[in-house]
Amino acid sequence: MAHVATPVAVVTSIDGGLPVGTTVSAFLSLSMNPPMILVSLDKESETLELVTETGRFGVNILSSEQHHAALKFATKNGIGKFHGVRWDIDHDLPRIVGAAGWVACTVDRIVEGGDHMVVLGRVIAAEQHDGEPLTYHRRSFGTHRALETV
Ligand SMILES: Cc1cc2nc3c(=O)[nH]c(=O)nc-3n(C[C@H](O)[C@H](O)[C@H](O)COP(=O)(O)O)c2cc1C
Repeated sequence: MAHVATPVAVVTSIDGGLPVGTTVSAFLSLSMNPPMILVSLDKESETLELVTETGRFGVNILSSEQHHAALKFATKNGIGKFHGVRWDIDHDLPRIVGAAGWVACTVDRIVEGGDHMVVLGRVIAAEQHDGEPLTYHRRSFGTHRALETV
């Protein structure tokens, strides 16, 4: 799977003013009607715990300039992950400033998948900005380039 190019996003949640977040590549669209997406989170994820508890989560789709944030949110550093990161609250969820896209969700269902849990989210808000997406391929960060057409 390291050879499959993916988007990079940070899944966030919050409880009592303390935000949590984790970097994910397992993020995709699921349904148009109703609008749904899914993310897959390791059973050991602290973010998964809060997503399950609160029944909601945010997906910050990172831009190519945010690879440092991708690495930061891929650690086990709790609230420390947000130090030095500009973020605010949108639909009661932590939203990272400057992300290429934003999706706010309520949890529709959580399905077990081996050592991960697949979280199906109902989209309650979505926004996108111009800018290059951050991608992950063969353990390196990159971005998308359109092929030249003849
Ligand atoms: C590029 C990249 C993609 C990742 N994708 C996922 C993913 O899809 N699901 C997941 O559970 N962890 C993924 N991880 C690992 C988590 O970010 C990492 O385990 C994190 O420390 C979990 O933090 P938490 O326990 O605070 O939620 C990814 C890491 C990187 C660097």
